[in-house]
Amino acid sequence: MKAVTVRTLHDMKREKRRFSCVTAYDASFARSAEAAGIETILIGDSLGMVLQGHSTTLPVTIADMSYHTRCVSRAVTLPMVIADMPFMSYASQPEAIGNAAELMRAGAHMVKLEGGAWLFDTVKALAERGVPVCSHLGLTPQSVNSFGGWIVQGRNPEDAERILADALGLQEAGASMLVLECVPRELASLITARLSIPVIGIGAGAATDAQVLVMHDLLGMNPRPPRFVRNFLSSGGSIQGALEAYSNAVREGSFPGPEHGFD
Ligand code: KIV
Repeated sequence: MKAVTVRTLHDMKREKRRFSCVTAYDASFARSAEAAGIETILIGDSLGMVLQGHSTTLPVTIADMSYHTRCVSRAVTLPMVIADMPFMSYASQPEAIGNAAELMRAGAHMVKLEGGAWLFDTVKALAERGVPVCSHLGLTPQSVNSFGGWIVQGRNPEDAERILADALGLQEAGASMLVLECVPRELASLITARLSIPVIGIGAGAATDAQVLVMHDLLGMNPRPPRFVRNFLSSGGSIQGALEAYSNAVREGSFPGPEHGFD
């Protein structure tokens, strides 16, 4: 594998070659993901739940994200490294620019922001300043309190229309990639077909261009795994084997299965 860039991922979308993404928060797991041929590593703010033991991602700070981004980025050379911007770190455009700069200096190649229309100008400002942006729509965990729980999004026609309009607007504003989390598979399929940028799904069915999972979930370490998770450790036999099995399953299209999606 050569070093993965935005261009690589856009070519893969055009050529209909699926790619995978996994979260990693430290050097050792990041190296294992790289050795498994996983194209993109996300330093997710899920670290607030997975590493820090919080019940949501909201307590995570830019200092936390910066620290873990440095741990991951110094360990790998091939995968694209994407860092989450944590809750309220992009509430205003100047904050978004300053905090994105910190994550890029920590070694990220791209930053991820949760939200739709309210972020169009921010995405444009970041993209114009040389910061590639991955947008995140659907069940965006930083808004769990507004949603009233971990609830599948886009099930009614108005919400589905809004998510599609947000996706198109974010692409227009300059987003390089989109994560769609916990939306009905038909909506994810429609959005993937309408966008020219790659769409990474999680709980969004099999039609997206790529898949993302939280590392600890795919290793079977979550006592209450969400429906969209498969335990790859049980078939893979080792951490390295599990990551290879995940990467292969996404590439071949055998993961996710129908049981991992929502209608
Ligand atoms: O924080 C995270 O790990 C994420 C992914 C699950 C998409 O945002």
